[in-house]
Amino acid sequence: MRPKITIVGAGFVGSTAAHWIAAKELGDIVLVDIVEGVPQGKGLDLLESGPIEGFDIHIKGTNDYADTANSDVIVVTSGAPRKPGMSREDLIKVNANITRDCISKAAALSPNAVIIMVNNPLDTMAYLAKDVSGFPKNRVIGQAGVLDSARYRAFIAMEAGVSVEDIQAMLMGGHGDEMVPLPRFTTIGGIPVTEFIAADRLNAIVDRARKGGGEIVNLLKTGSAYYAPSSATVQMVEAVLRDKKRVLPCAAYLDGEYGLSDMYFGVPCILGAGGVEKVIELPLNDDEMAQVKKSADVVKSSIDALKTM
Ligand code: LAC
Repeated sequence: MRPKITIVGAGFVGSTAAHWIAAKELGDIVLVDIVEGVPQGKGLDLLESGPIEGFDIHIKGTNDYADTANSDVIVVTSGAPRKPGMSREDLIKVNANITRDCISKAAALSPNAVIIMVNNPLDTMAYLAKDVSGFPKNRVIGQAGVLDSARYRAFIAMEAGVSVEDIQAMLMGGHGDEMVPLPRFTTIGGIPVTEFIAADRLNAIVDRARKGGGEIVNLLKTGSAYYAPSSATVQMVEAVLRDKKRVLPCAAYLDGEYGLSDMYFGVPCILGAGGVEKVIELPLNDDEMAQVKKSADVVKSSIDALKTM
């Protein structure tokens, strides 16, 4: 049996994720959206590129959740994107309603799936998805750290004038401007990044990475990023379907790790067939821990706001 991947939301992130999944032949795809015609049209269009690109998978666009039954992975991209001047938190109400609706429908039909949340505010929507689905914590994950660290790695590669392939980096925190890139856990070809980039330039890169989503929103003006977010999502889909045991930063449910509990938060994880198979606890120093706490406070207050809705 080929893996089955449901993508909820046929907007830019959802349809671009379908594109990367097809290119990698990770499994058959169901693209579901409430807008009539759009998932069908985009799904068929992508399917028709198969003979040219040589990918041999099935793609179905639909408005009917029945088509999503027995998926191995459910990716949730649906929701409103930011406009310039908005924070991710400004989306909480509208996206919470959308998340409740699509998780209740999709989770019931695919009780063994791993859910990967992509809509914003990310950590809060992952928390809501766990609650609504009733799935165990390891099978509901938020995508954010892979995207945020990809931006950070891209900026480091540009600054150092080296290949992006040689940048390894870890990053923690909520998917917001308080996220915590970790230069102490960043290497270029195994060499500490500080051997290549001076402290002030590195600080500027950390700051740019933190605001990386907003930088794209300000340029696009009518929506948010989608190439890197969908690529990051598909790296997680691949880690799960191929049981790769990748070490990636993901939004995971915390139960005491880093002194945090009853919340989703970006932490280093081992990602495999079981979803989040382990949360890795890094030996953070006082300064890093203080930054983590600051970011966690923002996520906590967002989850508290959700609970009053
Ligand atoms: C970003 C949005 C999608 O970071 O959260 O680009």
